[in-house]
Amino acid sequence: MESNPSIKPHVPTATALPHENPESIQARGLTRIYQIGTVQVTGIRDIDLTVPSGQLVVLKGDSGSGKSTLLSLLAGLDRLTAGQLTVAGHDLERCSETELTEFRRNTVGVIFQAFNLLPTLSVLENVCLPALLAGRAYYQVRPKAKALLEWLGLTKRIDHQPHQLSGGEMQRTAIARALINDPAMVLADEPTGNLDSGNAGKVMALLADLNRRFRRTVVVATHSNLADAHATMMLRLKDGRVVS
Ligand SMILES: Nc1ncnc2c1ncn2[C@@H]1O[C@H](COP(=O)(O)OP(=O)(O)O)[C@@H](O)[C@H]1O
Ligand SMILES: [Mg+2]
Repeated sequence: MESNPSIKPHVPTATALPHENPESIQARGLTRIYQIGTVQVTGIRDIDLTVPSGQLVVLKGDSGSGKSTLLSLLAGLDRLTAGQLTVAGHDLERCSETELTEFRRNTVGVIFQAFNLLPTLSVLENVCLPALLAGRAYYQVRPKAKALLEWLGLTKRIDHQPHQLSGGEMQRTAIARALINDPAMVLADEPTGNLDSGNAGKVMALLADLNRRFRRTVVVATHSNLADAHATMMLRLKDGRVVS
């Protein structure tokens, strides 16, 4: 087990320690085949994977190698075709739709290349939304959202709408949103794909900070080598399989 429970990292008011799980990800024969009419397309095939909690996993591989497919399965956004998958103690093959919704809301935080912010909501409202969907009251969630936004250097932006932000600010807003429900794991799919190198470096440093200081397991798919220095585990995919 990687984490030492006697070491208590500095935790800001905005975050709490995730539930410690010796193994964050356990996959056996993990397979996702897309069926388009009569044609079958391999997303990923027969992946065995064990990731202890507290890792920063960097997923590499050419376009079409299966990175997004793997992340979608880990995030509970998609269902596996075959195999077994346990994420932070949840058996994603067996759980019901209701359990899967709960899992998406509370156990994982997801960050996308295109930020996926809601354009008509303010920064603060975007960040609070997952907590509101989880049934919490706005006035209860707001202080935590503000603390997260302060940590991310966005205090002056809380009342702005996404279109008024730079790409880097949009992605940091998305990071705050991903953290509002204290997920044990953060999954990021090409999070720096739409950013200049300065902002890309900042976002990668934040993900590394989340991993090291706040002990979140982080899985990031990226073409950028900015992540390499922070990686504790590097996986390379090719044609839907892990090759190294
Ligand atoms: N929704 C989908 N329907 C059909 N095929 C898909 C779908 N998503 C991904 N694929 C296919 O699965 C393979 C892996 O894609 P993807 O996981 O997006 O790779 P990456 O993220 O590494 O670029 C590709 O051949 C892609 O065309
Ligand atoms: Mg992709």
